[in-house]
Amino acid sequence: MRKPLVAGNWKMHGTRSENASLLTQLLDRLPEAPAADLMVCPPFVYLWETGRMLKDTDVALGAQSVCAEPLGAFTGEISGSMLLDVGCRYVLVGHSERRQLYGESDALVARKFLATQAQGLTPVLCVGETLEERESGRTTQVVERQLEAVLSVSGVAALGNAVIAYEPVWAIGTGKTASPEQAQEVHAFIRERLKNLYGSAAEEIRILYGGSVTPENVEILMACKDVNGGLVGGASLKSDSFAKLVCYKKEK
Ligand code: PGA
Repeated sequence: MRKPLVAGNWKMHGTRSENASLLTQLLDRLPEAPAADLMVCPPFVYLWETGRMLKDTDVALGAQSVCAEPLGAFTGEISGSMLLDVGCRYVLVGHSERRQLYGESDALVARKFLATQAQGLTPVLCVGETLEERESGRTTQVVERQLEAVLSVSGVAALGNAVIAYEPVWAIGTGKTASPEQAQEVHAFIRERLKNLYGSAAEEIRILYGGSVTPENVEILMACKDVNGGLVGGASLKSDSFAKLVCYKKEK
């Protein structure tokens, strides 16, 4: 059965020395057998150094984004092969901040998903509705559209090497976490869609919840049947809170 994954998205935070002390303290606080796999996603410029610090640990390295193109004249961009070269295993694609602040369309997210998998890296595909979309009853419609945009170009087999993250936009960085019922409802919807396409193998796909996850609410969220880990922003920037996130006990 899949092991949950807890991923820390550092966004545009940190300095070399802050990262070093965060990681040292985090590694110190981790139990020998954490309840979840762990991953951190530092800003691009810190990937290499962070990867060195994580060498011989069980903490995986992830990137926050990737260029859809493999190489060439794309000033300011970072390719999938570069991410692989510096030791990444995962890449976040379609985070709502990329969609909303940098205009990433469903089509571009799909190309980034493919660019990630082309390097053997695992994409963490982020989906989720805005408050306005939720309030107008369009949550599942939006999530389905975001999923379909990727699966229609990647093919269903691509699910074998992918993680999905449901992140309601209204819950990100706001302190307003989705209730376990709200999270489970959308996670179950995603699982059902994946099962329709992928059959029983869909049970193995990790669907993370993201949006104001904290040590206080992690256990109740992770106890939801279809929640298989978390994508964590703010609470991943402090070693004590991040360490606590991987030590929760999942109820049977
Ligand atoms: P948050 O961010 O935990 O600070 O809400 C989550 C995310 O954006 O992935």
